[in-house]
Amino acid sequence: MSTTHTPRIFSGIQPSGGLTLGNYLGALKRFAELQGTGPQTVYCVVDLHAITVWQDPETLRAQTRAAAAAFMAAGVDPAQSILFNQSQVPAHAELAWLFNTVARVGWMYRMTQFKDKAGKNSENSSLGLLAYPSLMAADILAYHATAVPVGEDQKQHLELTRDIAAKFNHDYGVDFFPITEPLIEGTATRVMSLRDGTKKMSKSDPSDASRINLTDDADAIAQKIRKARTDAEPLPGSIEALKDRPEARNLVNIYAALAGETPDAVLARFEGQGFGAFKPALAELAVDALAPITARMNEYSADPAEIDRILGEGADRAEAIARPIVEETKAIMGMVRSR
Ligand code: AMP
Ligand code: TRP
Repeated sequence: MSTTHTPRIFSGIQPSGGLTLGNYLGALKRFAELQGTGPQTVYCVVDLHAITVWQDPETLRAQTRAAAAAFMAAGVDPAQSILFNQSQVPAHAELAWLFNTVARVGWMYRMTQFKDKAGKNSENSSLGLLAYPSLMAADILAYHATAVPVGEDQKQHLELTRDIAAKFNHDYGVDFFPITEPLIEGTATRVMSLRDGTKKMSKSDPSDASRINLTDDADAIAQKIRKARTDAEPLPGSIEALKDRPEARNLVNIYAALAGETPDAVLARFEGQGFGAFKPALAELAVDALAPITARMNEYSADPAEIDRILGEGADRAEAIARPIVEETKAIMGMVRSR
């Protein structure tokens, strides 16, 4: 008989750079929307993941606080959700080690994010970069999380999390870890670069023009959208007709996500018009949606001590859930527990 796990939502974002419109639409906005829907919500700034590629310590500290400010600015309420940074809860690293003995090396080499980030010289990447998905599985399973809201790019990591949970349960003859469901929903699960519609919008792209940062002001947002790569064709009446026009499709999807409409509803209004009309409308919508978030981020960022207090309190609450789960995992695996 299968244990039913209490519904719980977990997700995380790396503080490896400033957050982007992709993070907002693919993750943060969803995090806020899921609050108060029933399951407990646990959200984490994953600093231990960030250091799998080099981070300057001072910059990492600043970006961790900035990420926490962005979570709250986007609507994550530390009274409704648990909000903390990963490295303050040792259960994550401990469970990751235990999972390193469950997961197989071959599973790790198959991850596209590893291949992308390690590049040609993968022998020289950190061992942590290879083991990254094992830590991500630990993040999720230390809370027995049943659902994880993420963007499309994290789907493969979530499948691996399910594989680790299933192999652990099978190897030890238990039904201890839940098989987590990915929540990849909406029209903006994969926001693309403004310079290249075949590449994901990313905080690590060398070109700042490729992304909208949550810290960009109205002028910067408008200018980036005006300069976004497009084509010379007018807009069609349905999203289906944009399947070979990735840049155009991306801008329509962004519009739809920001407006809370379907892409087809957006196109019904703009059918036959060119980007000379569409881009200013998108810029206005983006500025209206992001300006209040940027303003709130700046307010939170003005008080780093308060951010640290919130993260510390969140870590205490997170620890209270994760500690017994990790202890039970060790007991299942045969570790002597005598204190
Ligand atoms: P990361 O910035 O890689 O830590 O990603 C944090 C979260 O944002 C994950 O759920 C990602 O799937 C999501 N995300 C990152 N970039 C994008 C994007 N361009 N479009 C949609 N979601 C994204
Ligand atoms: N790997 C995720 C990313 O880069 C971040 C992450 C770490 C995460 N741990 C997680 C996301 C747990 C969801 C759940 O986007």
